[in-house]
Amino acid sequence: MTEKSVKENPAIKKWKGKRGALIMALHEMQDQMGYVPRESAMELSVAMDIPLAQIYEVLTFYNYFKLEAPGRAVISICTGTACYLKGAPDLVKEFSKELNLEVGNSSPDGLFHLQCVRCVGCCGLAPVVVINGKTYGKLKPTEIKHIIAEWREKFAQEDAAHAN
Ligand code: FES
Repeated sequence: MTEKSVKENPAIKKWKGKRGALIMALHEMQDQMGYVPRESAMELSVAMDIPLAQIYEVLTFYNYFKLEAPGRAVISICTGTACYLKGAPDLVKEFSKELNLEVGNSSPDGLFHLQCVRCVGCCGLAPVVVINGKTYGKLKPTEIKHIIAEWREKFAQEDAAHAN
């Protein structure tokens, strides 16, 4: 684990050394990624000097935390104040309509998971949506159909590559 990779994780940087930091950092990771990947838990363990087993005790105690990605694409719509005021509710409606999916659910084919999250830290780009770590800023509802089509295409290509 390098010093650089610790610095790069915003959730760790923000909560390291603070009271209740472990839970808050885990919450933030889940908000950003839709679940807490094992690599992130390991990174947190090193950065905060907390045994990995203790982190997993917390992760498995609370039903809220997910250990597996709930969909191949986790769509996180920021509903923090800035994004809310700049139209996040319209984005929620449009994603729900296009995917025929309620917030908090995953599509039956396992491709998409739709969730709302708190401020993701780039309010200047509001309204913001993050999909698998890729940030879409100043997003308009009219762009959503195209974005979903791009992700479907990406997965189709990945599947085709695996089949060969
Ligand atoms: S409120 Fe959405 S990025 Fe801050």
